[in-house]
Amino acid sequence: MTNFLAYDDVTDLNALIQEGLNAKQNPFADQSLGHNKTIGLIFFNSSLRTRMSTQKAAQNLGMNVIMMNVGQDSWGLEMEEGTVMNGDKAEHVKEAAAVVGKYCDIVAVRAFAGLQDREQDYREVVLNQFRKYAGVPLINLESATRHPLQSLADCITIEEFKVRKRPKIVLTWLPHFKPLPQAVANSFSEWMNHMDAEFVIANPEGYDLAPEFVGNARVMHNQNEAFEGADFIYGKNWSSYQQYGQVLTQDPSWMVTMDKMRLTDNGKFMHCLPVRRNMKVTDEVLDSPQSIVIEQAANREWSAQAVLKGVLQGL
Ligand code: CP
Repeated sequence: MTNFLAYDDVTDLNALIQEGLNAKQNPFADQSLGHNKTIGLIFFNSSLRTRMSTQKAAQNLGMNVIMMNVGQDSWGLEMEEGTVMNGDKAEHVKEAAAVVGKYCDIVAVRAFAGLQDREQDYREVVLNQFRKYAGVPLINLESATRHPLQSLADCITIEEFKVRKRPKIVLTWLPHFKPLPQAVANSFSEWMNHMDAEFVIANPEGYDLAPEFVGNARVMHNQNEAFEGADFIYGKNWSSYQQYGQVLTQDPSWMVTMDKMRLTDNGKFMHCLPVRRNMKVTDEVLDSPQSIVIEQAANREWSAQAVLKGVLQGL
């Protein structure tokens, strides 16, 4: 594996899931692989799970880890080419990415969507500038349009908890008052299109994801109908793609409740976290045995380790 930016960088999904499960069974089996190798974790946005799980995975593989919060620990970075840098950005990504690439064998970047300009966000400017200038393998820690380390952890979790070969998996939109990126939902949909599953997306009118991410999923605008007989409910809020970055509704009837979960076939509730309780999903659901959000978050470590192992093997 050279880069890990999207599903397209995966050659064999089942093998990668198995690699994650192997790492979970035996975390230190490949500790010599990363000896004297350094990963730089570059964050433009906040994180709990991605930051800690990627650091832990790298350490399990014997790597050194350098972490940096752009704009707090470093200079603010200019992304546009040919611009007159007379604003608040003191360094250009051309130099910054190239320098980071000299200190690190692998670079990993988190940079969310700005949600102001759809064309710019979907061009993945930050990720592509790092890919262009870092000169070393690049890992996506959640970009404007995708969160593939989360999606791999989700696949590992589904593999662990599924009770039938071809489960019914429902990605459902949840209410939120703030505009949130589409990255997690896009990415989950992209990966579920490659799983052996009946995959359904439930969202209100105006919240359909970009067609390239929906793929072959069945899109439904009635959440209760979508939940019927489901094995997994994957909750997430996202802002509108069509009316880009807008909050079109906060309809509380889309919150996941125990009554909704009773429509499923003893389905499991998943969410990438962080989650706002009693706005997106009730305490009762999150605190019930049907919730597997903690197991899902724990699998972020094994997802990151499987990917880092693949990238280290390619160095
Ligand atoms: N799910 C996830 O990426 O969590 P963090 O934003 O805390 O890293």
